[in-house]
Amino acid sequence: MEAGRTALILGGSGRLGSEFARQLAARGVHLCLVARRFAPLQDLGQALQQTCGVRVEALAIDLAQPGAADDLYAETRLRGLTVDVLIHAAGRSLAGDFLDIDERQEERMLQLQVIEMTRCLRRYGRDMAEQGGGHILLVSSVAAFQATPGWASYAAAKSYVQSLGEALAYELRAQQIVLSVLAAGAMQQSRGLMPPKRTLFSVEEVVQQSLLSLDKGITVIVPGKRRAGELARRLVSGRLMPAMAQLLAKSTVTRH
Ligand SMILES: NC(=O)c1ccc[n+]([C@@H]2O[C@H](COP(=O)([O-])OP(=O)(O)OC[C@H]3O[C@@H](n4cnc5c(N)ncnc54)[C@H](OP(=O)(O)O)[C@@H]3O)[C@@H](O)[C@H]2O)c1
Repeated sequence: MEAGRTALILGGSGRLGSEFARQLAARGVHLCLVARRFAPLQDLGQALQQTCGVRVEALAIDLAQPGAADDLYAETRLRGLTVDVLIHAAGRSLAGDFLDIDERQEERMLQLQVIEMTRCLRRYGRDMAEQGGGHILLVSSVAAFQATPGWASYAAAKSYVQSLGEALAYELRAQQIVLSVLAAGAMQQSRGLMPPKRTLFSVEEVVQQSLLSLDKGITVIVPGKRRAGELARRLVSGRLMPAMAQLLAKSTVTRH
């Protein structure tokens, strides 16, 4: 991901997405930032253009709408963008009792995290294959590794992201496409405003570690100090796991 390449960042105004934008711009990578609201993308884009001298495009699109991935792809083609790096950090968590959850919100979450994300991967993956390679980073969650009551469909969607990502990381190697999946967990609240909790990484640290891992071709990224616990959870199964997952999720997963 050297200077002069172009990164398409979905969720480019979010906590993770905007930090990916800052760190990639600092490397001299040009950006196309995508989210529903245009103004935050434009503000960040202007700041990064001034400080880092990179080109930044902003694109407002609702990625939870059926067909959004095709619209996005058509728009980036229209703008003549060659996407070398795709970062999917759009969306947010959805908590609630399964029987009572807002179905409309749940369907939008599934459309964004499953259907449209898959389409994005195929559209830009084909282009990267033709271009001779590329980099892709998907954001899943620590909730992806086990059934999580209270976040049931969100965790299941993130399991899909995790599983698809790990399979494609292997499959797309032949096309020189490097793919990593960031299993994000709770992070320190914001850029130095909160007293640091020793067990949590900052967003800056998580993104730094993710980009270094992507550079090295590491497929599964579980940020720093959480790694041992998450890997242990992947190995353990049984009737206790859903109850443990619910407790852990309640204490660590950020509610938006
Ligand atoms: N932060 C955490 O603690 C944490 C933990 C585990 C996993 N994650 C995962 O990491 C990803 C990003 O998290 P975050 O903390 O950066 O979230 P965030 O700060 O809420 O940012 C979400 C980003 O996605 C955009 N977005 C949301 N819905 C969209 C839609 N329908 N179409 C297009 N863009 C949309 C938002 O902008 P607009 O609102 O303007 O559209 C924003 O840019 C999510 O997938 C989340 O589930 C986060």
